[in-house]
Amino acid sequence: MRYLTVATVLVAVFLTYFVYFAEARPGKRFDARTKMCRIIADGGELDWNSEPWGAGGIQFRAVCKSCHTRDNDKGATFLHAESYTSDAWNKIFAKRKTVCAKNGSWGVLSEDEIQLVNDYLYRNANWTYDPNNADSCG
Ligand code: HEC
Repeated sequence: MRYLTVATVLVAVFLTYFVYFAEARPGKRFDARTKMCRIIADGGELDWNSEPWGAGGIQFRAVCKSCHTRDNDKGATFLHAESYTSDAWNKIFAKRKTVCAKNGSWGVLSEDEIQLVNDYLYRNANWTYDPNNADSCG
């Protein structure tokens, strides 16, 4: 009986976790530069790549986090996905007005890779996603 209770609790925890990630995170991202709607959920290639373990997450850590770590000596603020909202990340990547985007520090990434990093940050951003926002491409 006790094991059944433990199993029930585990299933409940798993389902909560699953529902949280399946429902609460944005599934699409409108990319202002390419004017394309990117499907970042539903099991496609961008679904995998917009996760921490996919290309977007990996490049964020390899490139952006080479400077934006805690206590770095590059003069960069500490950044992680939740530093900004989904919308704010989109604007940062659409405008590219940050010191580092302008001085070429993003240059080691291809346009495609930059979009994957944007997908990753958008998807895992601080939670303020609005499904009715036009920017989210419906
Ligand atoms: C070579 C080091 C370096 C790399 C690589 C780098 N940055 Fe930066 N970044 C900086 C510095 C320095 C600043 C200016 C100081 C600050 O505001 O953090 C900055 C500023 C920013 C800001 C503005 C922060 C604010 O509070 O105004 C954002 C957002 C940002 N970077 C995002 C990124 C992203 C996303 C990447 C990867 C695609 C990246 N950076 C890669 C060094 C870097």
